[in-house]
Amino acid sequence: MNSKVRSTNPFYNGRKLKLGSFSINLEHGGAASTIDGTHKADWPSIKALGKLHDDMEFEAIVPVARWRGFGGATNFAGPGFETYTFAAGVGAQTNYPAVIATSHVPLVHPIMAAKQMITIDHISGGRAALNIVTGWNRPEIEMFGIPLREHDERYEMAVEWLEIVKRLWTEGADFDFAGRFYKIVKGYAEPKPIQKPYPPIMNAGGSERGRHFVAKYCDLAFLAPKVREYAPLKKMADEYRNLARDEYDNEIEVWTNAYVVQGETEAEARDYLAEYVDRKGDWDAVTTLIDTMGINAQTFTPEQLKAMKRHFIAGWGGFPLVGTKEQIVDMLGKLSGCGFDGVVLTFPRFHDDMVAFRDEVYPLLLQSGLRAS
Ligand SMILES: Cc1cc2nc3c(=O)[nH]c(=O)nc-3n(C[C@H](O)[C@H](O)[C@H](O)COP(=O)(O)O)c2cc1C
Repeated sequence: MNSKVRSTNPFYNGRKLKLGSFSINLEHGGAASTIDGTHKADWPSIKALGKLHDDMEFEAIVPVARWRGFGGATNFAGPGFETYTFAAGVGAQTNYPAVIATSHVPLVHPIMAAKQMITIDHISGGRAALNIVTGWNRPEIEMFGIPLREHDERYEMAVEWLEIVKRLWTEGADFDFAGRFYKIVKGYAEPKPIQKPYPPIMNAGGSERGRHFVAKYCDLAFLAPKVREYAPLKKMADEYRNLARDEYDNEIEVWTNAYVVQGETEAEARDYLAEYVDRKGDWDAVTTLIDTMGINAQTFTPEQLKAMKRHFIAGWGGFPLVGTKEQIVDMLGKLSGCGFDGVVLTFPRFHDDMVAFRDEVYPLLLQSGLRAS
């Protein structure tokens, strides 16, 4: 049982396995593929997906903060919506899910971040959450005319940034702040967020520095499933939770991301995967993406690199949920067994595949007890 109670936010609804979507603010959603029918970055498409979240009481809508695409045939992750304004829009148009703004620390002043989040929290009736990213994609940071800082320094900046944001959300009196990165003179923000003490904070730090940032300062850890076997995933999830608990007396939720490829038979699901990834995947875009992340032939074998690219084409490097409806439920149960509180999902043809998930997989998930509170 999590000791943090934010009664308006479904992150704290007590369900055994929580669900969400990932990347619906971006063209193509999570699929770097030229197949027809992938997600469109237009508002009618996003609104239609919002309704599906309400239908299944999905707990989260997590957008990706991205400012430039990765080229290739799709310019993957290029076209897309800014995430604070996106969260405000989906917050107004949905009833159930937490609406997340994913914020780059160096690109948004903490006073702006605090105020925008307050606005989203009020629009959504206390369903806002903030996903903090420190930035790694050099061309998009340099587009703003600022340098990409050295890795650990980005987290030093995030610590100050978040302290200012939290103080603006919680302190009644004006305050001054003089740090290494920020100076605040008579900091003030009213009204306060609906959620107390403040909207949940998530972060996907994967490095040692990043893990400690999540464990100490955040409410939810977002883990990249770098391995795709259950035992090491469980170990990873345990390590995050225990680090927060043991070193920082902080109870966190642990989430990961997965892609869903559903078929009548397992063979049909595998054919679908082969079609949108192997035959019609945007290998050029994903090669650029992986190179920009600094993942290269010095640390990985060609086979490992190819496998990683496949997962990135299929759905942002997520855990593969490929198979029949029964198999998908079984795999989600195993992820829950690894200790994940929640999983955000992508679908190759986001809308149509999510409808199939609602109609065919979701009833089985309910029966399985995974969605019980
Ligand atoms: C599920 C997930 C979502 C992420 N979303 C974003 C994002 O929207 N924008 C971004 O710049 N980085 C994003 N990242 C990257 C992380 O913020 C982080 O840089 C990465 O996990 C590496 O960890 P490190 O910063 O500790 O080295 C995401 C990572 C994960 C695992």
